[in-house]
Amino acid sequence: MNPLSGKHIVLGLSGGIACYKAAELARLLVKAGATVQAVMTEAAGQFITAVTLQALTGRAVVTSQWDLREPNAMAHINLSREADAILIAPCSADFIARLAQGRSDELLSLLCVARPIERVPLLLAPAMNREMWAHPATQRNLMQVVADGAVSLGVGCGEQACGETGDGRMLEPAEIIEELEAFFTPKRLAGERVLITAGPTFEAIDPVRGVTNHSSGKMGFAIARAAREAGAQVTLIAGPVHLPTPRGVARVDVHSARNMFEAVEQHAPTATVFIATAAVADWRPAAVALHKIKKDGSGAVPQLSFVENPDILAHVAASPRARHGQLYCVGFAAESEDLLANASAKRKRKGVPLLVGNIGPATFGQDDNALLLVDEAGAQELPRASKRELGRALVQQMAERMRGRQ
Ligand code: C5P
Repeated sequence: MNPLSGKHIVLGLSGGIACYKAAELARLLVKAGATVQAVMTEAAGQFITAVTLQALTGRAVVTSQWDLREPNAMAHINLSREADAILIAPCSADFIARLAQGRSDELLSLLCVARPIERVPLLLAPAMNREMWAHPATQRNLMQVVADGAVSLGVGCGEQACGETGDGRMLEPAEIIEELEAFFTPKRLAGERVLITAGPTFEAIDPVRGVTNHSSGKMGFAIARAAREAGAQVTLIAGPVHLPTPRGVARVDVHSARNMFEAVEQHAPTATVFIATAAVADWRPAAVALHKIKKDGSGAVPQLSFVENPDILAHVAASPRARHGQLYCVGFAAESEDLLANASAKRKRKGVPLLVGNIGPATFGQDDNALLLVDEAGAQELPRASKRELGRALVQQMAERMRGRQ
């Protein structure tokens, strides 16, 4: 289940051109299963109308503390007590300054001050011109606001509406959702350092050709995102895939199985969990031609011979840290039939406590999947769901098993 499902979010808009992105943000929050109550400052009303947000959230937007629709005439109390979180997006330089001073002369800052500070988190997505963002007053105010208990989600970097380029853009709506989902996820992997391999490998034949497979990397990326949401420090070693890096995840791009092996060897000594989701090529061409192999018109075909690649998972699982329980190893098996028998045999052969089986043709490139978790106690099915959901469920299962070992 999405961590935002059933959450009630007060979405506050202060004045800034990024208000146009708040409409998309509201839509994504609703899509994630949250209820959204939009609150706009007068300045926000210069950039976007309440009609837009009302239509997207299905709730009347509140803009004034003098709103007579509130039976008790206490919009600031009602709104802040109902909320699971208050999210200010965009949060302008002026609004940060208002928060730093604890101002309460308009509804949005008033309800931030009125919120029960222990129970209702205040999350900020700042948005402003790069000079305004870099200004010492803004940074000083933000530090104060964070010291007072708010959470800054950070800013993006890039082209700004004013034509300048730099830090200060509001995070994209999808990035804010990622941050919010992480915020609401129980920190089951706090303190863990998780190393994940994902995607296919590419084994060169010559400078323009190679041997690869259909792995999209989506499952490994989803697990990386879920592990980070659960509080782990995550390193993702990715073969050639076209996927955005989950927020807060350190990514290392590799091509061949040997590159992947080297990267894993470098990071495994400090990891506490290793999850091998990559579809590593079993073999590579014995020699890589220096130049493109040419067709000479005679009908002769190149004679390729192969050598075996290192088995990264088996190698890591055999290391002393893994054998002494300091590195929890999880393998994957993509099978085409008899999942339970094949996955159980593979778990023993690789020497890992947990092996996750899936049916290869049903997962490669898909957005959803079904998993079979095989450990020494038996097998457990995680039924067909999106890879995002399965990533979260797997992290939860792993956390329980790791706790059980201590
Ligand atoms: O032996 P098989 O390729 O079916 O094993 C699959 C599991 O082993 C996956 O977890 C995969 O990431 C890992 N593996 C590996 N290095 C290889 C081959 C597979 O880490 N060379």
